[in-house]
Amino acid sequence: MERRKLTKEDIDKVRHIEGFPIATDEDIIALSDPPYYTTCPNPFIEDFIREHGTPYDEATDDYHCEPFAADVSEGKNDPIYMAHSYHTKVPHKAIMRYILHYTKPGDIVFDGFCGTGMTGVAAQMCGNPDSVFKLQIDTEMPGVEWGARKAILSDLSPAATFIAYNYNTPVDVDEFKNEAERILAEVEKECGWMYETQHVIDGISQTTLSGNPQIGKINYTVWSDVFICPTCSNELVFWDVAVDKENGKVRDTFACQKCNSELKKTSCKRAQDTHIDKKLSKTVTMAKQVPVLINYTVEKKRYEKSPDDYDIKLIEKIDSIDIPYWYPTDNLPNGYNTEQPKRSHGITHVHQFYTRRNLAVIAYYVNKAALPLSIFTSTASNINLSRLYRYRANGKGGNVSGTLYLPSTPQENNAIDVLKRKIGDIKSAFMNNIHCRNSISCVSALQTETLPDKTIDYIFTDPPFGGNLNYSELSFLWEAWLKVITNSKSEAIMNPVQKKGLPEYQALMTLCFAEYYRVLKPGRWMTVEFHNSQNAVWNSIQEALQRAGFIVASVSTLDKQQASFKQVTTTTAVKQDLVISAYKPKEKFKRDFESMAGSEETVWMFVRQYLEQVSCTVIDGGYVRVIAERQAFLLFDRMVAYHIMKGLSVPIDAVDFYVGLKERFIERDGMYFLSGQVNEYDAVRIKYDVEHAQFDLYVSNEKSAIAWLNMQLLLMPQTYAEIQPKFMQECKQADKHEKIPELSVMLEENFLQNDNGTWYIPDVTKASDVAKLREKRLLKEFESYIETKGKLKLFRTEAIRTGFAKLWTDKNYQLIVDTAERLPEKIISEDDKLLMYVDLSAGKV
Ligand SMILES: C[S@@+](CC[C@H](N)C(=O)[O-])C[C@H]1O[C@@H](n2cnc3c(N)ncnc32)[C@H](O)[C@@H]1O
Repeated sequence: MERRKLTKEDIDKVRHIEGFPIATDEDIIALSDPPYYTTCPNPFIEDFIREHGTPYDEATDDYHCEPFAADVSEGKNDPIYMAHSYHTKVPHKAIMRYILHYTKPGDIVFDGFCGTGMTGVAAQMCGNPDSVFKLQIDTEMPGVEWGARKAILSDLSPAATFIAYNYNTPVDVDEFKNEAERILAEVEKECGWMYETQHVIDGISQTTLSGNPQIGKINYTVWSDVFICPTCSNELVFWDVAVDKENGKVRDTFACQKCNSELKKTSCKRAQDTHIDKKLSKTVTMAKQVPVLINYTVEKKRYEKSPDDYDIKLIEKIDSIDIPYWYPTDNLPNGYNTEQPKRSHGITHVHQFYTRRNLAVIAYYVNKAALPLSIFTSTASNINLSRLYRYRANGKGGNVSGTLYLPSTPQENNAIDVLKRKIGDIKSAFMNNIHCRNSISCVSALQTETLPDKTIDYIFTDPPFGGNLNYSELSFLWEAWLKVITNSKSEAIMNPVQKKGLPEYQALMTLCFAEYYRVLKPGRWMTVEFHNSQNAVWNSIQEALQRAGFIVASVSTLDKQQASFKQVTTTTAVKQDLVISAYKPKEKFKRDFESMAGSEETVWMFVRQYLEQVSCTVIDGGYVRVIAERQAFLLFDRMVAYHIMKGLSVPIDAVDFYVGLKERFIERDGMYFLSGQVNEYDAVRIKYDVEHAQFDLYVSNEKSAIAWLNMQLLLMPQTYAEIQPKFMQECKQADKHEKIPELSVMLEENFLQNDNGTWYIPDVTKASDVAKLREKRLLKEFESYIETKGKLKLFRTEAIRTGFAKLWTDKNYQLIVDTAERLPEKIISEDDKLLMYVDLSAGKV
């Protein structure tokens, strides 16, 4: 694409779009590099698509691909990955496997929560893999087509997009190194004296041959909070009273040096320091911190000392100077994480996160830097140069990730040294690595308006996952230096200050996935990488995906210890990283489905297209894996979810579904196939045995108990006496509200018994009778709940599920909503089926 200017008129056209950042037009223009990168919604994406995309035509489109799951824990030591930290990151080499699987060279990949832009790095690296990795992939995934893919990336955070832009723009690394090192040499000339200290051994100042004091270069200075003893008001330097230097530990309790009272950090107030902040034109009171340890180098040897008069005077001198360069003085916004530094240390403005000498060095460097990669160097070093950096005796200090926690013993690193090292790291990480340009913009995934419909070949995305990380707050320091700040209105997080809980998060994610759905070509795939913190959040994500129209074809979780994938077929207590593969159905399917709404045909239409999409065979460790998505119960679940999400009632019940499935499709090893697929499976099956996947199951309620029993009886029919001890062992953590029926009742309700007393799984002809009987009992149980009043404290969730399904068929939405109100909130939010019925019924009433 030709170079373009980003004008104020261009900006005016996108100003209304959700996620437009907080900044002046001048600062947005200054940070942007049009047409590829704009620190606002990118007005030039259409040009990018025109140049690199291929139009979608359903009549001629013959794309077909099966879902894919791969190791995502790879490559965290890669220099590229490490060049710039972020609150969470997916290594680009993990993403490359997905891209290679789902796309061909030249295709366009999209990530609307791009963070540092690793999806873009992965897309370009497919054209430029390192040889060892290439060999590995060629062995693991034979037949992949190497060659760069193009990426369109966006994020709500200007800092993220700036990092992503640098990662996705070829640079002349020598030019960068020359500029960065030249500036640093100037900084050293102007500020080098700030990191000088006198060489002292055993309290004696060392001198040079000519008799002058020997001067060392400070590597870092450790500072300490000062507390006040509540008993005698003595000032206590935390380092002196609480840090066990020999063992490198911090004591929870410590004694006052004066009155000997036993104290805790929380029982003492912090000593305060009041000074005039000329930039803020006011008197400022902050927690007092004093230097306690200096680590320095003389003639290539490292030493440590306690600060002496020379050092104290030096610090006083530095504190008195005016820094002649711009630096940010933004007020910390209200927030969840931003409250912490205010509360603990009285830090209310960005510049207060730095000691004065580090502030001076960063300010000098940033003001002189012209190349984006030079500024990237400063953001990449920023946290390590702030008071967030915690001292650790073992040398493994660092900030507490995901917070703005200010430690009581921060380590002030030599800013010139840190920048110097970073320049070297970035130079070698970027050398010959970045080859093509991708499109990057700063916009909310809620409204990627400048991206046309049906233009994207594949989406890889790693969305924010609920409440753990408040990106806009955590990126505030970077963004203050970049002068462009996140507009957090549509930030998809749970944050009490932003007044966003689970429903708000889910609503935002639903809108984001709807946009993903809009821009993706039909029949194409999306991979959602999700760090599962809470089941409720996970259910929200699943529902958001399905509401947007996506069909989930597989969910895997990475077992980090065994580095293998497990299938997830239940939402119970899976607290790991999940990889969701979902696709956008073809338009013809949607049209046909809608035209047949109300008839049973929609059920089989759904199953047919679903079986077309899911994997036929997966060979794993010398076995053929049983694919859960081909099993009757999951096919039923997915079919029901699709109907409900479309606002339709489900035309048949489970029993008729299982019978119909058997009549219409071909069964092998408990899985269903289309006639065109079964030969492939049979051919593989001749060579390999079947391995039934190990499901991650914690028996905590009736549903998981039945799933567990199914697994047991699938292995072989067993008697009650054989099952009971194993069951007791598994069934440890019963949910508080869950009325788990006796084991004998569950066996009776769900299975059949041989003459020899062993229980077995009924075959499909008998299964219908068993299921009908069970449903009747559950509905009876549910009716007994309806007849009572007030909160339900102990119940069978299975009965609630069956009851809600019946009410949905009867269109009795009001009763679903009313009953839901009588249940503990957690029960609904942690159960994907109940959540689906309740949310959609609430919409209807
Ligand atoms: C888990 S991180 C992505 C990290 C990324 N995969 C990487 O490797 O760097 C999620 C991202 O979503 C962004 N985000 C949150 N709400 C958003 C929204 N409404 N639109 C776009 N991005 C959003 C955050 O700024 C954050 O960068």
